[in-house]
Formats: sequence, structure tokens, C-alpha cells
Amino acid sequence: MQSGTLRTERLELRPVRDEDIDRILEYRNLPAVTRWLLRTEVDPDAFRAAWRRAAEDPDDHSVAVTLDGLVIGTVSLDVLDGMGQPGMPQLTEADLGYIFDPAYGGRGYATEAVTAMVAHAFGRLSVRRITAGCFADNLASVRILEKVGMRREQHGVGDSWHAELGWVDGYTYALLAEEWRRGTR
Ligand SMILES: CC(C)(COP(=O)(O)OP(=O)(O)OC[C@H]1O[C@@H](n2cnc3c(N)ncnc32)[C@H](O)[C@@H]1OP(=O)(O)O)[C@@H](O)C(=O)NCCC(=O)NCCS
Repeated sequence: MQSGTLRTERLELRPVRDEDIDRILEYRNLPAVTRWLLRTEVDPDAFRAAWRRAAEDPDDHSVAVTLDGLVIGTVSLDVLDGMGQPGMPQLTEADLGYIFDPAYGGRGYATEAVTAMVAHAFGRLSVRRITAGCFADNLASVRILEKVGMRREQHGVGDSWHAELGWVDGYTYALLAEEWRRGTR
């Protein structure tokens, strides 16, 4: 998020600051967190640099999620072009991701934050379509995407490489703004 703060019932979503990075690194490389991520263990310096770049990118609306002032997770939202022929309106699609501290897992915080980001993307950023991908066996992630009303559009059989498991299945989810407004998903 380039500016501003979003508030939900229990959480605040605000831009990621330099001083958040050490706190995020306390959980980012734990095995419970990296198990179903594509970017597994991150190098602290490269991680810090990537967040700095993100903070300067006008199409990167990623946020830190705080509970009583403590960062407990991040939700990423990258606005990008979809696929299409010349003349296609640009920057109408957004890719969604989320990583939370397992110490705060299972209490609905990720669902609450992701729901707020979806509303922000459609309501404020004029995004037309949101997509998200996950390993099929990442059951908590699948549950979040389905709870926020996203549609499973692709089941990629054996399409995703997992460092310990080898080739496994992946899912792609999506939701259109008009569906979200109608509440039909
Ligand atoms: C995925 C993640 C964000 C979930 O965070 P969270 O705060 O626990 O999520 P919530 O509490 O909002 O919701 C989790 C849902 O998944 C369900 N769930 C969790 N583990 C599950 C499991 N092993 N099997 C089935 N359902 C599971 C919970 O019951 C809950 O659903 P419910 O509300 O219907 O009961 C968190 O585990 C995480 O950061 N994981 C590591 C990074 C990651 O995988 N990110 C996603 C990459 S696609």
C-alpha cells in the first residue's frame, strides 16, 4: 500500500517499514512457514532490499498486518497486466499472497486481513480481477482463498515443484470485481 492504513475489527494493515523487517524475519524462515512457499528460505539482506524496492513500486500494495502494534503477517498485492491483445487496459489484475507468524495462526487473522485487502483492491484500487496460487496440499491457504470467495480456476496436476515432495499439484484461484460486488462468489 503506497499510503494510508486499513483497519479491520482486530487488525491494522499499513505499508511495510524498514524497521518491520527484523520482526518479519523472526518467523519468515521457520519450517512451518516455508513449507508451502515458493521462495523458501530468504537471505535477510536480499529480503530487506526486496521490501525496500516494493515500498517504492507504485504497483506494489503489499502491507504489514499488525495486532496491537505487533507485525503478525504480511499480505502482498501486486497490480499487473493480465493477458490480452493490443489495446488491453493495463494494470487491471492483481496477484495476492500472504505469510503469517504461526504463533498467531488459526485465529482467523489471515482471513480477516486478506478479506480487507480484496475489498481494498476492488473498492479503491479499481482492480478488475484478483488471482492467487498455492500448492494443493496447503490446506490453510486453500481454506482462506475459499473463505474470501475466490474460485478455483485451475488444478495443475503435478505442475509445481516442492523441494521435499517433488512434483505436486497446484491450484490457481481468481475472483472478478463484479462477482465480489454482487456477492456471487
Ligand atoms: C496460510 C496462513 C496464512 C494461514 O494463517 P491463519 O492466520 O492460520 O489463517 P486463518 O486462521 O485466517 O484461517 C485458516 C483456515 O485454515 C484452516 N486450516 C488450517 N490448517 C489446516 C489444515 N491442516 N487442514 C485443514 N484446514 C486447515 C483453519 O481451520 C481455518 O479455517 P476455518 O476458519 O474454516 O476453521 C499461515 O498458515 C501461513 O502464513 N502459512 C505459511 C505461509 C503460506 O503458506 N502462505 C500461503 C502461500 S499460498
